[in-house]
Amino acid sequence: MYSLRAASRAVSVAASAVKLPRNALTNCGLRALSSSVAPMQPANGVATTTTATAPAANNGSQSASAKVLTLETMNPHVRTMEYAVRGAIPIRAEELKAQLAKQPGSLPFKQITACNIGNPQQLAQKPITFLRQVSALMEYADLLSPAMIETTRKLFPADAIERARRNLSFVGNAAGAYTHSLGVYEVRQNVARFIEQRDGFPASPGHICLTSGASGAVERVLDMLVSNPNVGIMIPIPQYPLYTATLARINAQAVPYYLQEEHDWQLSMADLKRALDEARASGTDVRALVVINPGNPTGGCLLESNIAEIVRFCEDNHLVLLADEVYQTNIYTETNPFVSFKKVVSQLQSPVELFSFHSISKGMIGECGRRGGYYEAVNIDEDIMAQMLKLASVSLCPNVQGQMAVDIMVNPPKPGDPSYEQYVREIDDIFQSMKRRAKKLAAAFNSLPNMTCNDAQGAMYLFPRVELPQAFIDEAKAKGQQPDSAYCMQMLEATGISVVPGSGFGQVPGTFHFRSTFLPPEELFDDFIDGFKRFHTGLIARYSPKI
Ligand SMILES: Cc1ncc(COP(=O)(O)O)c(C=O)c1O
Repeated sequence: MYSLRAASRAVSVAASAVKLPRNALTNCGLRALSSSVAPMQPANGVATTTTATAPAANNGSQSASAKVLTLETMNPHVRTMEYAVRGAIPIRAEELKAQLAKQPGSLPFKQITACNIGNPQQLAQKPITFLRQVSALMEYADLLSPAMIETTRKLFPADAIERARRNLSFVGNAAGAYTHSLGVYEVRQNVARFIEQRDGFPASPGHICLTSGASGAVERVLDMLVSNPNVGIMIPIPQYPLYTATLARINAQAVPYYLQEEHDWQLSMADLKRALDEARASGTDVRALVVINPGNPTGGCLLESNIAEIVRFCEDNHLVLLADEVYQTNIYTETNPFVSFKKVVSQLQSPVELFSFHSISKGMIGECGRRGGYYEAVNIDEDIMAQMLKLASVSLCPNVQGQMAVDIMVNPPKPGDPSYEQYVREIDDIFQSMKRRAKKLAAAFNSLPNMTCNDAQGAMYLFPRVELPQAFIDEAKAKGQQPDSAYCMQMLEATGISVVPGSGFGQVPGTFHFRSTFLPPEELFDDFIDGFKRFHTGLIARYSPKI
């Protein structure tokens, strides 16, 4: 069995495996997130690799007991990949959770509060009833049989029954069968209608691909873009580590640009240009720009005018645009409403090649474990669309229940349907509660010494900045620890709160942050905030110079 200890070892091996002299990622506090095989840039522009030494060929002469697959022989790109959201701190949190289960009262807290990941149902967010009713009926279709339907009608609303029947008809009455590799056509039609209604511009099911979560969609697009180790993809710093992890795995270069903390994490066109110019001047073949809007971990929402500038920037600089819009309904500000990149591209009649991503994991649906999402491809060459279909076919099809949850997200009950009012009420209750929790946590962070935090305009996270006392920084460094990781680990040990150090997302060198979700249940929120405040003020007092 893969033990926690082994997992922990794997993470620390990954963390220590690479010292990157070359990649700009190391300059923004991202450790080891790019591949260890940092490509060199010889004069001819052809990348070579430096540290991935080829293991001795397996000619069958080794002793029978020697393992073929070891840390030395494994794919070095996987070995050096990091994903902080599920890194050393959540692994330690699992250990503490197991300890609490075995020996209640043995730790200074009663439970682990998992604020390291945007996983709402883990923190007791109730699933949307209609979605679960439809999926239950699809899962156990006998409930729709003539023998059982009368009983079923007493338990389920008519529109859930009708929806389950209709969905089953799209998959040959078999929720356990493979579907089309791009996803069920009728669901893609509904996604296209949703996009048309959202943006006011046409969308086509032929340009939509359902995936098992947005992660699968992002990985697939990056797979298409990266043809050699010299290819660079622009990513925001701080960023959601799916991007650095995938780029490390497929041996491509992350080209970081900085978001502006002092301006609510907005995107600076000047920094975008600086990052592109520097990377191209050093010979990197920069092909695409990733924008996460609303931002993770920052919570920033882009203004429409800025989106238009970004589209023009991609057009002028021959870049494919990847718009990660999984938090499009998590918007808590009137000043920065969500505007999709697709809408702006359509308004500008831009030829820019765009992939945009959406997911059932976020918003108010929060069905992370069902693994549903999609991408829309705009202005993409038809030959590439055919290649993307081929790529999708290798994974056979996206998760069927995930596809059906996408269908409900984009085509919820309508006014007059039996489930309409409950659906709207549940969505609104979750939304209002998230908005309150976002404000409350930001206010708590801002009330503390040595801490500042931008309000979340959107998404599910706050990314406060911590002014760590020099004595704390020195102590962590002397132990070979990143100061922000040491701070988060101590927070976990003292309070049971699991957050992610800023170095997992990237940050301006010399600054320290952490990312916390604001997802703990509202009734536990005061305790959660109190525990955190006690920890932080205690640490600052202990390490600050005594006057
Ligand atoms: C910005 C961003 N993109 C993509 C994802 C992946 O979402 P999914 O669960 O749909 O794979 C996440 C998950 O947290 C995210 O924050």
